[in-house]
Amino acid sequence: MLHESFFDILYFSKKSFGNAQTACIFGIQHSPISMTDSNNILSDEKEGILYLTVNRESKLNALNFATLEEIRNIFNEVSDNKNIKAVIVTGSGEKAFIAGADISEIAELNELNARKFAENGQEIFSLIENCHKPVIAVVNGFALGGGCELAMACHMRVATANAKFGQPEVNLGIIPGYGGTQRLTYLIGRGKANELMMTGDMIGAEEAYTLGLVNHVLSSKSEAMAKAEEILHKIMSKAPLAIGMIVDCINAVFVPDENGYQTEANSFARCVKSGDYTEGTSAFLEKRKPVFKGE
Ligand code: COA
Repeated sequence: MLHESFFDILYFSKKSFGNAQTACIFGIQHSPISMTDSNNILSDEKEGILYLTVNRESKLNALNFATLEEIRNIFNEVSDNKNIKAVIVTGSGEKAFIAGADISEIAELNELNARKFAENGQEIFSLIENCHKPVIAVVNGFALGGGCELAMACHMRVATANAKFGQPEVNLGIIPGYGGTQRLTYLIGRGKANELMMTGDMIGAEEAYTLGLVNHVLSSKSEAMAKAEEILHKIMSKAPLAIGMIVDCINAVFVPDENGYQTEANSFARCVKSGDYTEGTSAFLEKRKPVFKGE
């Protein structure tokens, strides 16, 4: 049950996650979350790809606060973990990727904590967007509200044919709060973003593809997963530092105070300082395949 001091607890707990042993959400003690022992997220690493599955199938994988914190912790770990080279995010089951933020928690918000609610989600989704390792959302079924927002924070989206996208917050008397008003607009353009957010309508995978919201549409979840893996394996054969620089430069486009061309020039120079640059250029000249080390 949410109460007045919920966000104080949440924010206290966020600090605790960084360096202490326990965290308290809803007054419940949780151990710090590692790759393998979180409750609402299943995680599994195979051949350098971390598979994150939001695992609240009975609630169509709705994002509650505890799940969001698990996502935050996992993405913090992803940055530091050398064995993880890429991430796939998906939802448990066939029906939903994520059907939004958990409405039972949204229903308890007040004006004061609603701002923090939005800022907290924005912060976590920015971690995904800024991750230097490629992140693909495999969107199986409903991607609504916070689910659509999470998918949009990923670097790419591969959808199943039954995927449905939407920002239905207006039906609840609210607006998207986890970055959706911004990311949807830059992904599909102003007119369509206005239409989707103002009507709360859902669109199917093919329309999402036509609008540029998703990169690929495949008929089944296993095929969508295979497509995401194919893309990631290709990216993983490239120079990891350069991939991270591409993330920074593309994100710079959307930061109003940042000069993206400057970011590009600086990032280009950083790449040239790396061993991977020496390896990549030498391998080309020596007519062999490069072996990148991310150094
Ligand atoms: N938050 C919390 N619970 C949710 C949820 C959400 N965003 N979306 C679905 N659920 C729960 C339902 O309450 C239901 O739980 P119950 O079985 O304990 O009653 C369960 O998931 C299954 O959902 P249900 O509505 O019965 O499935 P459906 O096939 O009839 O409809 C949707 C599917 C996605 C159309 C419908 O669940 C829906 O509109 N969800 C809310 C979407 C939304 O507004 N998201 C934005 C939130 S900001």
